[in-house]
Amino acid sequence: MDSHYPPEYTRWWVEFFYQKFQVNEHVLIPRFETEDLVREAIKIARDIVFDTLIDVGTGSGIIPLSILSVVDIPQVFAVDLSSEALKVAEGNNRNQGKEITFLESDLLGVFLNESVETRLIVSLQNKNILIVTNLPYIRNGDWDNMSKDTRYEPGIALFGGTETGFELYEKLFIQIPVFFEKHQPGELLILAEMGEDQEETATRTLESLALIVAGNKRKLDFSFFADCFGIRRFMKIEII
Ligand SMILES: C[S@@+](CC[C@H](N)C(=O)[O-])C[C@H]1O[C@@H](n2cnc3c(N)ncnc32)[C@H](O)[C@@H]1O
Repeated sequence: MDSHYPPEYTRWWVEFFYQKFQVNEHVLIPRFETEDLVREAIKIARDIVFDTLIDVGTGSGIIPLSILSVVDIPQVFAVDLSSEALKVAEGNNRNQGKEITFLESDLLGVFLNESVETRLIVSLQNKNILIVTNLPYIRNGDWDNMSKDTRYEPGIALFGGTETGFELYEKLFIQIPVFFEKHQPGELLILAEMGEDQEETATRTLESLALIVAGNKRKLDFSFFADCFGIRRFMKIEII
C-alpha cells in the first residue's frame, strides 16, 4: 500500500474532541483545527440558548456530535450532499444516540425546498438558530499546496470552486436571505471554517450579504477568529 495512504482509513477511526469517530474514504479525516470551531460553538451555546443547530457539510458528523457531547440543543439537523458521508455520520450517531435529523441536501437546499417547506416552517419559525459549518474551501485541483495523503480524501470534501475555493460559501450565503424569508427564524449565528488566505474574499462577500440583509430589515455583523495557532480561519456571522 502507498505509504501516503492515510492510516485513519485503514483502522477506520479517528479521535476528535476527546471521542472516537468512524471514518472511511467517503469522508474527510477531521482536522485538529476544527476542534477550535467546535470549542467556540460550545462557548457561545453556553451563553445563548439556541433552539436549533444545523451542520452544513457534516461529513462524519463530528461537529454536531462533539457540540452535543457538551451542550444540549433541542433540534439538530446535519446535512450533506454525499449520501455516503451521511451513512458514516449516522453510524457515528448510532454509537452516541443523539436526536439528530440527517438530510441529504445541497447546502441549505432542503430547507428551501417546497416539499418539506411546511414541516420545517412549523419547526423553525422564531427559533434561534446556530449554523456551524466546515465546507470545502480549497481551490479545485490545488494539489501543489496539499500533502500527498490528502489525495485519498474525497474531492467533494476538499474543493470549493475553480477561482478561489470560497465559492461554496458564497453559494451558502446567497441562500441565507431566502432561508430567512421562508422560515422567519429569530436570530441566526453562523460559525464557519475557511482557508487562512480567504479573509479578504470572505469580507467582500459578507459585506454584500449585509446589504441584502439590511434590505430585509435585518442586521448582519461579522468577525473572524483564530485557531489555537493564532491563524484567523473562522468566520462568525450574526444576523438579528
Ligand atoms: C471539509 S468536509 C467537512 C466534514 C466535517 N464537517 C468535518 O469538519 O470534518 C466538507 C463536507 O461538505 C460536504 N459537501 C460538499 N459540497 C456540499 C454541498 N453543496 N452541500 C452540502 N454538503 C456538501 C462534503 O461531502 C463533506 O462531507
